[in-house]
Order: sequence, then structure tokens, then C-alpha cells
Amino acid sequence: MKKLKSAEGLGSELEVKDKLSNLYSEVKKHDDLYYKKHNPVISDNEYDELRRSIDKIEKDFPLLISSLSPSSRVGANPSEKFGKIKHSVPMLSIQNAKNKEEIISWSDGLKNFLRIEDNISIDYVAEPKIDGLSASIIYVDGVLKVGATRGNGSLGEDVTENIKTIRGIPLTIDKNKAPKILEIRGEVYMSHDNFYALNRTQELEGKEPFKNPRNAAAGSLKQLDPKETAKRSLEFFAYAWGSTSSLPYDNHYDLMIFFKELGFPINSHFGVFETIDELLVFYNNVLEKRPSLGYDIDGIVYKINRLDWRERLQSTDHHPRWAIAHKFPAERAVTKIIDIDIQVGRTGVLTPVARLQPISIGGALISNASLHNFEEIQRKDIRIGDMVWVQRAGDVIPQVISAIKEKRLENLSVIDAPSHCPVCGSIAEKELVLSGNTKKYEKYIRCMGGFSCDAQAIERIKHFSSKAAFDIEGLGQKQIDDYFINKMIKSPVDIFFLEDRYKSNPPSFWQYTSGPKEKIGTIKESALKLFKSIDDRREVDLDRFLFALGIRHLGLSTASLIANHYKSIKVMLDTFSVERSSSSLEDLQSLGGVGEKVAISITEFFENSETRSLVIELIESGVVVKKFNREIKETKISNKIILITGSLQSMSRAEAKVKIEILGAKLSSSLSKKTDFLIAGIKPTLSKIEKAKELGVKVFLEDEWNNYINE
Ligand code: IVH
Repeated sequence: MKKLKSAEGLGSELEVKDKLSNLYSEVKKHDDLYYKKHNPVISDNEYDELRRSIDKIEKDFPLLISSLSPSSRVGANPSEKFGKIKHSVPMLSIQNAKNKEEIISWSDGLKNFLRIEDNISIDYVAEPKIDGLSASIIYVDGVLKVGATRGNGSLGEDVTENIKTIRGIPLTIDKNKAPKILEIRGEVYMSHDNFYALNRTQELEGKEPFKNPRNAAAGSLKQLDPKETAKRSLEFFAYAWGSTSSLPYDNHYDLMIFFKELGFPINSHFGVFETIDELLVFYNNVLEKRPSLGYDIDGIVYKINRLDWRERLQSTDHHPRWAIAHKFPAERAVTKIIDIDIQVGRTGVLTPVARLQPISIGGALISNASLHNFEEIQRKDIRIGDMVWVQRAGDVIPQVISAIKEKRLENLSVIDAPSHCPVCGSIAEKELVLSGNTKKYEKYIRCMGGFSCDAQAIERIKHFSSKAAFDIEGLGQKQIDDYFINKMIKSPVDIFFLEDRYKSNPPSFWQYTSGPKEKIGTIKESALKLFKSIDDRREVDLDRFLFALGIRHLGLSTASLIANHYKSIKVMLDTFSVERSSSSLEDLQSLGGVGEKVAISITEFFENSETRSLVIELIESGVVVKKFNREIKETKISNKIILITGSLQSMSRAEAKVKIEILGAKLSSSLSKKTDFLIAGIKPTLSKIEKAKELGVKVFLEDEWNNYINE
């Protein structure tokens, strides 16, 4: 048998193979101790030594490398861009609760929905809400095949090779135990230790440090080169599943234990409880342990344990009804206000922003915080130079909560509301504005400069190009700032003339750019890329188009309602002509979901010659606004109006409503000519049945109804 050259003292090839497979098992054992049991028994150096021995042998004997090798976790080459993965079961978000009352009301709602008597208890599981990013991992016949990010919930990014580098995630699971297809869902996160270590490296390499462990985890998972991801020491907790060929248990708890047996890390703070009080005890226990866990959690998730109940409860478009996140209180800290700047928003609202002495809150370095509006600054008497409480909760912009007046040493001057816009100098006026934060009308100061205010113009262009609007890749905040300063884009219409301008005068694109001239090649490349993405977006759905125009108070969902009603931009231009007709305003308001404020704002937008001509110019510049005909799946009861009388035996009214809505119909509360079907349960109102028959409304008994829709 062949003797070894470089790995002296190892003996025959067979012996090397043996040695290698022992090393693999050894590493796997320590990975498990470290990642799953959180109880390493060797030092990092000793561990690295083991890995080096493997590397050395594998280098000499590449043919002996097996899929069990820890190095096979980083086998793949960097990719150019991630592919997309469609989630066959959407990855939804989760509803939040702030306090006991909201948990009780959630649980009461569930009991009503499921028609569970008050004295019958529900089993809930409770587990920490991990603050990382969710991922889906698909195993087929026991082998890890796909790893994907959540993305927008229905389309995620294919990060399979990166997922494979996470040492706590098994590459293979026992195929005799696991279902043929198993999709595990859970959270990829970074521990505090690894986060701080990574940021030290980032700084040494002159790179921007990450703001918090979640961003670091996301940045690391989305590295194009899996070898980079492998260096980042990510971890994983399984807490859910997606599509699986079969499920061996009928409840969450048993499934989690099963996943653990298959080799997945699950969080050890985890239990089944029967009452809300027990859930709250668990919540407080974990909250107390939070600082010493070593990773970020931002609340506790409560879930219904029984899967048949989950099935009946279903999900809304955003979240399942069977789960709720009980959030932890936001994290706060004290720091000093160095200055107060004024930001001008898209609609001219002037927002005061506090520049702070940088401070770390919950792992994030905070140097700016919102002061909301000037009325609030005065009410709370916050001044430049004050020590203040700053609060940060999840993704929300940090807020200044209050000033610590006892610490105010000098005579600091009071902040006055500005009388003029700091950018364009136009008069600023007080106005009532619906605040996105508090959902209340608050007194804001608005710049009256409108189209002549550069700050508003920039914000309008940013809004126009943003994801929910035209979604132009490569035209983000920074590029828009640059193009605006260079006078290349002064209004959304200019976006569509950018390429022509470039062609007639290419140097204009880089003469303003600072930096070395060698960069021109890259600038040119990205400009060409940008033209392509602008071209790709020339055709746009009517609702996105309306939203992109930046009409005040008009959100995307109302825009969809309106688009669905008018169908084309031409009809809208005709309906809302320059001379207002009262019928157009009434017409708008008659659409359910369109309030008076939005209706007026839309009418005004189309009446005002300046804003109206934006629409016309966009169309003339080649923007094609598609006729609105979004696909709505037809069912037997699509668009039907349904009424229920009496109580149902097979399900609660709430559940019936959900079923009806899923099938595209509407549950109404009164009988009229418009009603299509009446469902009669126990103790129906007889007069309703009679009237229905008179009106020609079809009447179903509960069983007949169930058969009809299940056919
Ligand atoms: S349950 C949607 N459990 O919370 C219900 N989610 O899921 C299925 N998350 O962004 C998931 N910890 O990243 C569930 N223990 C936990 C969780 C958890 C964190 C995150 C997840 C997602 C959001 C909603």
C-alpha cells in the first residue's frame, strides 16, 4: 500500500482515511458541544488545531474528502448575485402585543373564533423572539438542499451555500426519521461576543462597523462569497417549519423536540403553558435573563400548541392568527443633545432632529434621534445642551423621550419653531397633520414652498424611485442627492431623460464627481446599468404610479383601491379635470376605505396645473401606466355578498368570515337586494329568511353551505 509523503507517521491510505474520519467526528462533537449545548470542553485554539490537521490531510489527499468534512461547508465559489427562491408557504411576520391586556384580548379572540368555552384551557407554547433574520432550510431525503432568506415573504434569496457554512445547522439529517421533504424555519443570528469581535476586525480593516448583531448577521448571511460567511460565526435556532411531506406530531412542542433530535439547535427557554398568567411569569423570567443570554432577543412569542387549531385559525395577509409576539420594553439610555437640525420631508413637514453625543443602545450606536415636532419640543421643554433619555425600539427611528431637567447646569435657550423653511426660505406654517407614529393629528410646521423647495423636490424624487413606487434599482438616496446637486434630475420626469442627456453629453456625468479620474470607468458602468433599470421600469401598474406621485395622505393600499375603481390613468385624468365637479369627489369617497382627506388631496392634485402636468409629462416621456386588472382568483363565490343568520354549529362567525373572504366573497351585516346568499344556522331570524326568499336571495342551511363551498 502507498506510503504517505507529507503527512509523516500516518501509515497507509486506509489509515489516513480512518484518521480523517475520526477527526471529522471529533470536530462534529465539539461543534455540537459549542453550538447546541453551549458547553465547549476544549479551547478555541485546540479546536483550530483540529481543523488545521484536517486541512493538512485534505490538502495532500483531496480524494479522501467526504461530505462529512467541515471544510465541505465552504465548498462553493462566490456567486455574482443570489437567485430567487419562492416560498411555497409564505414566510409571514407576527403580530405584536405590548402588554397583558393585549395578550388577553388576543386569547379571547382565539377562543371566540374557535368557539372554545371560557373554562376550557388552551395550550400555548412560549419561546424567545430571536432578533436575527429568519431563514428557510429545505432537506430532501435527509440532505440539505436549499437555504433561503425570508425576502419579501413570498420570494427569498437563495443563500444555500452560505447557510451550509453555519456550523450549528446539520448538512444531513437521519433520513429514516425525517420526512422525505422537510422545511425547517428559524432565526440566523450572531452572538454578542462574535458581534464585538467582528466589529473590531471591521474597524482594523478600515470598514464601517455594524450597528447591531442583527445587521451583522444579515450582512454576513448575504455575502456573495460563502467563505466570507463562514468566517462570521453565525448561529441558528429552529422555531417553525414550512412545507413538509408529512409531520409526525400534531403539536408544536413535540415537533420542536423532534427537530432537536434530528440535530437542529432549538432555544432552551421554551415551555408549554395553560394560562396567560403562566405565560407572563415565563415572560418576566426570560426578561430578567435577557442581559446574560449572550444574544439579542426582543420579546417572547406565544403560539397555539395544537396544529388543528392553527389550521382553523389561518393567517391574515401579514401574520398567522395563532401566534403573537409579546415585545420587551424598548431600550433607553441617557446622552447629551449637541444640536438640533431641521429635516424637510417630501410634503414639506419640518421635523426637528437631535444630534446626540453618540451612545450605544441595545448594541446600536445612536447619534441622531427624532424630536417629533416643535410643539412637542416645547411641551417637553427640550433644549440644546440638555441631557436626555433616548429610546430605541427595534427598527424604529430612535426618539428623544424627555430632558433630565435636574442636570441642566447652564441657562440654555428655548427652541423656537421656525418661521421659514431652512432650505428654501419660504414661509413655514402650522398645520394639523396625521402623525404616522401616534396616529393622531398633531401640529406640525410645514414649508409652503411646494415645488420650489429643493428639499421637498429631492424627497419627492426619492419617494418616486423607492421600492413601493417605481422601484428603480441603482437610483437610491445617495445617487438622487448627487444627480440633484448636479442638476441632472430636478423632477421625477428627468429620470426618464437621463439616458438621452448622457448620450448627448457623456462628460456631464462625471465632471462633477470628485475622486480619481480612473473611477470614470466604474461610473460609466453604473450609469449604463442605471439606464437599463430605468428602462425596465418604464411600464408601471396604476396603483404604484399613483403612489409614486407623492399625493399627500395617499398610501399604497388606498392607491390600489382607487386604481381598481378607475382602471386607467386616462379615466382618472378625465374624471378629475381642471374644473372640479362635485361628482368626482363624491365618487372617490363612495369607495370604501377612501377618506375625505385623501379624496380632497387627490382631487386637488389633479386640478392643480403644476401637479397635473407632472402626470402628463411622465406619460409623454414614455412612462406606460398599465390598465389595472390585477388577477383575482375566481371561485364559485367570488364577489358574492353573503349574510349569516343564527349561530353556526361547525364554526364560529369569525371563522366563517375568514373562510368566506379567502374565497373572494364578502360577509355583510344586512339583507338587501345586493345580497347573494343567506346562510341559516341555529335559531335564525325567520323574518330574514322570508325576506330573503322574497328578494330572490338563495338560502342555504349550514350543512348545505359547507357542501357547496367544499365541492
Ligand atoms: S414564529 C410567523 N418564533 O419573528 C410565525 N418567529 O416570525 C412563524 N422570530 O421575522 C414564526 N423568533 O424572524 C417565530 N421564536 C420565534 C421567533 C420568530 C424570531 C421572528 C422571525 C420573523 C418574525 C415573525
